[in-house]
Amino acid sequence: MRIFLVAGTRPNFMKIAPLLDEMRKYPKINPIIVHTGQHYDYEMSAVFFEDLDIPKPDIYLGVGSGTHGEQTGRIIIAIEREMMKHRPDLVVVVGDVNSTLAASVVASKLYIPVAHIEAGLRSFDRTMPEEINRQVTDVLSDYLFTTEESGNENLRREGIPGEKIHFVGDIMIEALINAKCKMQNAKLSISNLQSSIFNLQSPYALLTLHRPSNVDDKDTLSRVLEAVDEVSRRIPIIFPIHPRTVKMVEKFGLSEKQKPLHVIKPLGYLDFIGLEKNARFVLTDSGSMQAETTYFGIPCLTIRENTERPVTITMGTNKLVGTDKDRIVGESLKILAGEGKKGCIPPLWDGKTAGRVVAVILRSELKEK
Ligand code: UD1
Repeated sequence: MRIFLVAGTRPNFMKIAPLLDEMRKYPKINPIIVHTGQHYDYEMSAVFFEDLDIPKPDIYLGVGSGTHGEQTGRIIIAIEREMMKHRPDLVVVVGDVNSTLAASVVASKLYIPVAHIEAGLRSFDRTMPEEINRQVTDVLSDYLFTTEESGNENLRREGIPGEKIHFVGDIMIEALINAKCKMQNAKLSISNLQSSIFNLQSPYALLTLHRPSNVDDKDTLSRVLEAVDEVSRRIPIIFPIHPRTVKMVEKFGLSEKQKPLHVIKPLGYLDFIGLEKNARFVLTDSGSMQAETTYFGIPCLTIRENTERPVTITMGTNKLVGTDKDRIVGESLKILAGEGKKGCIPPLWDGKTAGRVVAVILRSELKEK
């Protein structure tokens, strides 16, 4: 059974790692790793393969950056060629990035079944490119593997037959659990890099920012950076900065180099998780970090108006604060005063997701025979 495991961006790589480990337990499964090359910098790609012990991709498409049309189009052209050549029995896509959408469109037109890991999440905000990617991918998928109950409800409401929906838990949390022991030995390059200006033993907050709605608009980005500047006067903030954000900060002539704000290059997976786990709190617009902080029990302030992961709010430690300066500062100060949200770990975020996914795939294969 030939299975394409498609990944393209930083938040995809940790999602394929546990699947690959699980699939390798079954000699009848032949997983083929396809890296689209949507992310290509060492810090955004190769370091994740090293940290997660993922072998070199079997197929590298090298599509790089571009507008949505250019990037998605290039992936479609390149991956179609590979699917026609290898004729996989199943294409597994993860998350909600342009690579996810492109691979599912091509596979379904070639009548190759598609399995979507992290199906059903909805922000109900079509100004987010990811929301469009999620909706299209789910419509085309044959196996929809969900992370939380809201995903099941959304898919049922959209008319997806119940037998296609499989509630398996969050694969990213499985990667996190697997990484926990490795983390003890993590390089923690931050401590080497920053030891002269920052002592990791003292409390710090962690910031990430890369959503187009936050960083591509000058007013929004300056407002958020002003808020961050103010918070950083009360607690040092470490800011591993995304290449998109670097580009926009430069373009708008803004400064992200205030004193207690430590701007560093993006970190590898293990270093980043180590930093996240020990943060006093997290400020972010990332999807994945809302889930990771809930798992770690660390307060998370999400710099967005909505989330596709509502369980992180209803059960977890997440709070939406939007991009209003006073709100971001006010909620940060509340956390520093000991009023941070406490939560619990959502159902099936237990490190056994890949096993459930592969069991479903093997069961369906048996039925077809
Ligand atoms: C993409 C995903 C987003 C995900 C994010 C994680 C889509 C629509 N968006 O956004 O959902 O949360 O990845 O990081 O798929 N760049 C580099 N080096 C790289 C990659 C990107 O310099 O290795 C720069 C380029 O200037 C590029 C920009 O970052 O134009 C944005 O990259 P792109 O892949 O288009 O989107 P992300 O913002 O990374």
